Amino acid sequence: MGSKKLRRTNLSAEICSRLNSHRIETCRDLLSLTPLEVMRVAGVSYSQACQLLKTTSQACAPKMTTALELWRQKTGLYFPTSLAALDRLLQGGLACGTLTEVTGPSGCGKSQLCMMLSVLATLPHSMGGLDRGVLYIDTESAFSAERLVEIAQSRFPDYFSVRERVEEMASRVHLFRELTCRDVQSRLQNLEEDIISCRAGLVVLDSVASVVRKEFDPSLPGNLAHRSNLLGQQAATLKYLAQEFSIPVVLTNQITTNLSDLKPATSFKWNSLEGSSLAAEDSGYVTAALGNTWSHSVNTRLIVQYVDAHCRQIIVAKSPIAAFAVFKYSIQSDGIRLEGDDDQAGPSHQGTDPGLQPIRVRSGFACNLTRGSSAIRNMRGSYS
Ligand SMILES: Nc1ncnc2c1ncn2[C@@H]1O[C@H](COP(=O)(O)OP(=O)(O)O)[C@@H](O)[C@H]1O
Ligand SMILES: [Mg+2]
Repeated sequence: MGSKKLRRTNLSAEICSRLNSHRIETCRDLLSLTPLEVMRVAGVSYSQACQLLKTTSQACAPKMTTALELWRQKTGLYFPTSLAALDRLLQGGLACGTLTEVTGPSGCGKSQLCMMLSVLATLPHSMGGLDRGVLYIDTESAFSAERLVEIAQSRFPDYFSVRERVEEMASRVHLFRELTCRDVQSRLQNLEEDIISCRAGLVVLDSVASVVRKEFDPSLPGNLAHRSNLLGQQAATLKYLAQEFSIPVVLTNQITTNLSDLKPATSFKWNSLEGSSLAAEDSGYVTAALGNTWSHSVNTRLIVQYVDAHCRQIIVAKSPIAAFAVFKYSIQSDGIRLEGDDDQAGPSHQGTDPGLQPIRVRSGFACNLTRGSSAIRNMRGSYS
């Protein structure tokens, strides 16, 4: 991966500092130079310059591995969420080295889940934790230290009855408030060093959607392509970091509403607002934001949605290792709790394309959506 820092390759510290003084910090920076330029900036001979380029290419080239190696490494490749039925379904929890997206309506508990996972990541191994730090990128100013501590103390009252442990846990959660696309982008570029210095075992981006949706008006020409490009870069950087450090990356996403008029059932309609193609017969309902291309960037998609005022559902809408399934949950002082979590895994039901998965919102909100569209009224009948 081109964004790998030169200091994390086999180049000597002296060469790295010479290159850094010319603002050449990543493999991409160095590999975009010619051997003659490398000779000049690194102060080396032609053959040494060629060798530097070769070493750098090898350091950032994707490594080949076999299924056998991956299978043998299985232990420790999942981060338990403490939601037993969900963990059972996901073969142990959130897969390390991959991106897990949590998408759903506002107030449904996405940030609560992220804060709960942050507490878990800091716990010792004996308690199912990772005994590591957390990098929490908050783009909505939704993170609450008080809530983090409340979840920790309510979920693990004995362990966190000691004040020093609470402080230790909270000091391991490193918060970055990034409120613009540019700031998020620049934070992601430097995340590699932060992961090392904070001994991070979990990266959270809450949320990936809010800043891009604020800054890119998709109705303006070129904005959708630009936004897609930016999201693609962010996904690539996060995937590289997840794989390089074998850690789980959790992203939250918002929802979007498609109120397109009906077209013949066989035709497809381009949703100009979100860049997703929807079967016309499926149009007119709420689905994950950022479109189809984005939905392919995440490895696992969990959808949270409302059932009624108290009960909500978490759906495993896309997973490379688990069947489509749904669990009921509630939010309590100690975070997220699944209903009947001691039973066997919740019932699976027929899945759909995760990019088009309809999502239930609060009924008041759903009522507003139905105005003027009989097709949507029909859909409400089957979904709400
Ligand atoms: N201490 C608490 N006890 C119980 N529920 C809480 C508590 N704090 C927040 N909640 C619930 O969490 C919801 C907000 O969840 P949040 O994760 O912020 O939503 P979002 O999906 O928008 O990120 C609130 O509407 C409330 O229902
Ligand atoms: Mg939130």
